[in-house]
Amino acid sequence: MNKTFKNEVHEGLSSNPKTLSSKYFYDKKGDAIFVEIMNLPEYYLTRSELDIFQNKTHKLIEAFGVHPDSYFEIIELGAGDGTKTKELLKVLDQENYNFDYFPIDISSNALELLKQDLKVEIPNLNVEIQQGDYFEVLTSLSDSKKPKVVLFLGSNIGNMYDEMASKFIYSLGANLQAGDQILLGVDLIKPKEIVLPAYNDSQGITAKFNMNLLDRINNELGGDFNLNHFEHQPEYTEKEGIARSFIVSMTNQTVKIEALGQSYTFSKGEKIQMEISRKYNDQLIGKIIENTDFILHEKVLDSKEYFANYILKRN
Ligand code: AVJ
Repeated sequence: MNKTFKNEVHEGLSSNPKTLSSKYFYDKKGDAIFVEIMNLPEYYLTRSELDIFQNKTHKLIEAFGVHPDSYFEIIELGAGDGTKTKELLKVLDQENYNFDYFPIDISSNALELLKQDLKVEIPNLNVEIQQGDYFEVLTSLSDSKKPKVVLFLGSNIGNMYDEMASKFIYSLGANLQAGDQILLGVDLIKPKEIVLPAYNDSQGITAKFNMNLLDRINNELGGDFNLNHFEHQPEYTEKEGIARSFIVSMTNQTVKIEALGQSYTFSKGEKIQMEISRKYNDQLIGKIIENTDFILHEKVLDSKEYFANYILKRN
């Protein structure tokens, strides 16, 4: 893990334009800042998807096509604190569906908390946690041949470029069976006035979230980034449908990173590409699943039509 972090930081800061991967945002501090983001007034994504899980629960269950008398597995990629999923699990449990829940997350801490919480909230639910990167755990999915619904929520797929998203869905399919489904939660393309503030909040929490990666490089790799000499800068156009986060160098400066035995020069105004958060519509989803084994089975929207849960069914 540390070696990859090191290598990726070196590669990213040596390329033109410079990049740093958003997958490294989530250290302990990053996890906590992301929780703050989810509670921000401007960050509508989590609330919109929660609206679907609270108010369209039966529409989701109907789309899954499951029956109380036949067993199935619910697997969640990047389960986090499971707030949204819990709404679905509670209803399935109350209505005596026959299933187990397999949350997967990179954070073993998050998984332990989730397991404890579910033990209290849904005592007779069987929960089997699995720690790892979702790419790593993909193959372990195919061990059981039981019918599956794979949850990939929160517009987490939006951090991938479309080509990579497509490859990811394809490899999910390669590890699933005919009839298995993906519940894919994505943020929809909307005007800039709604999307941009979600990545440029008035309290500066999103800025702190991005800057934390520079801090992480300072702490873990002996970097000497001066955070006062960099600034967070988000961009979004409705035409492109991608929110992009950059960190901009405010001066000409050199940053030394001890663990890499290297210095990196930044010119005034130079940007580091940090994160993309892709927004979708039916056409883009269609394109992404085009060369996979999945077909679009159903779509469920929140009341404001900001967010969609697509149900994809494997051929
Ligand atoms: C967790 C990837 C869905 O892209 O909206 C929130 C992460 N970045 N604010 C997103 C994030 C800045 C978030 N995802």
